[in-house]
Amino acid sequence: MRDTSACPVHALPPKPATRPGKVSLWRYLRLFRNDILSAQPAHLYHAWMAEMRTPFFRSYLCNDPGLVDLVLKQRPDDFPKSERIRVGLKPLLGNSVFITNGETWKRQRRIIDPAFAGGRLRKVFPAMWDAGVSAVARLRPLADGRPVEIESQTSHAAMDVIFRTLFSVPVEHEVASAAFEAFRAHQGAQPLANLAAVLPLPTWWPRVHSRGTRKTARTIRTLIAQLTAERAAAIATGTAPDDLATKIMTTPDPETGKTFSTEEMVDQVAIFFLAGHETSAAALAWALYLLATHPEWQERLAEEAAREFDPETIYFSTISRLKLARAVFREAMRLYPPVPMFVREATRPEHFRDRPVKPGAQVIVSPWHLHRHERIWDDPDAFDPARFDTENGKAGLRSAYIPFSEGPRVCPGAGFAMAEGPLLLAMLVRAYRFAPIAGDVPVPAAHLTVRAADGIRLTLTPRPLATAKDPTE
Ligand code: HEM
Repeated sequence: MRDTSACPVHALPPKPATRPGKVSLWRYLRLFRNDILSAQPAHLYHAWMAEMRTPFFRSYLCNDPGLVDLVLKQRPDDFPKSERIRVGLKPLLGNSVFITNGETWKRQRRIIDPAFAGGRLRKVFPAMWDAGVSAVARLRPLADGRPVEIESQTSHAAMDVIFRTLFSVPVEHEVASAAFEAFRAHQGAQPLANLAAVLPLPTWWPRVHSRGTRKTARTIRTLIAQLTAERAAAIATGTAPDDLATKIMTTPDPETGKTFSTEEMVDQVAIFFLAGHETSAAALAWALYLLATHPEWQERLAEEAAREFDPETIYFSTISRLKLARAVFREAMRLYPPVPMFVREATRPEHFRDRPVKPGAQVIVSPWHLHRHERIWDDPDAFDPARFDTENGKAGLRSAYIPFSEGPRVCPGAGFAMAEGPLLLAMLVRAYRFAPIAGDVPVPAAHLTVRAADGIRLTLTPRPLATAKDPTE
């Protein structure tokens, strides 16, 4: 239900209600189906660790930065991705890097990582810029003060970035737009299947994918297979563009000398589309909402963008000068980490804060709780991009800020996303003034990513600056 009580400007950013006290497993399951975040008790914002007992398995939510470090950085091989996660994502992702473990995963990362290294980012930057120009243009007819649903706009923009950087085609391209539509249908058809990993049910519990889920997953994979096959042909004839897809498809594993097979590349492209667009879209939408409700930050950011953009030339170095945009995007991901929780599995007996943890237990790292932890952050629920300049904010960044995870399984797209997010934010805020709608406060809800339960609506009006010196024209 939407909270209509508060005027959004300067209220604390929305946070989901927490579950009252202890509940039965069945009630928990029902709450969980609705939204992962509001199914959790309030003490998780204060505790260093919480044990959850179910009749089928134990799970341990770890907020202690030392434990998070142990699981993600010191001994990641002992805490592989939970097998349970495969169940939800397999129809779409096949054997992609997001869900594999062990040697297969290591080999896949050896091939993928070079495509996202710093130097490559510079190459794909013009494609990101073009996607920003298109996003600004798409919004122009809507910028007349009427409510605009922002999540669908940021989704469109983020998917455009992925298509342009990966395959050198805009989202309007025939195959790309069909894939984008199929992704939307897929998300509608299967929000729950993705939760299989953290649902407190035994592994034998039937997790049937709906016919809709299987159908949309098949459609997406067929479209991706078409793009991938066309690209393989272009590589063979020496006519392929120098984009991410070409780089990944032509990079041999330094250990075996082998490149991805076409089938394996389809699996990887599926995860780039899913992980790369859902997450950035969510972060951008929340960042725009936070700017709309904190107009003083929005004005500062608009001034920065006007100052730093050169309408004639695209400079990769612009990214490093968008300091406020970066701080705002970072703070938006602290409050609304697009991936709210990661699930790992203990493979051997452990001791967590003097409690024994048996093999098979689920180990949950929750950026959602860590980023708002009351014993780590000053004023944890407030929006304050300047906090990262304070001692408390710097310490929090070091020990309790993991929107991209950390350790060897860190998001390979982190650098990409930290270029894309601030750039798009700056381009949009330079062109439009975003304002909240009184009484229309989005309620965060998490399925695979943290979205608003019922969308985010804002109004847009053009900034005079944008017509005087518009980098998009
Ligand atoms: C704001 C944007 C993004 C956020 C917050 C984000 C966050 C994350 C997180 C937290 C993980 C680890 C999940 C886990 O361990 O369970 C992850 C993994 C991954 N992300 Fe991102 N991501 C973003 C953008 C991207 C982009 C743009 C791409 C690629 C184009 C990408 C590709 C991937 C892939 C392939 C993995 C799997 C890595 C592995 O398991 O080894 N992500 N991302």
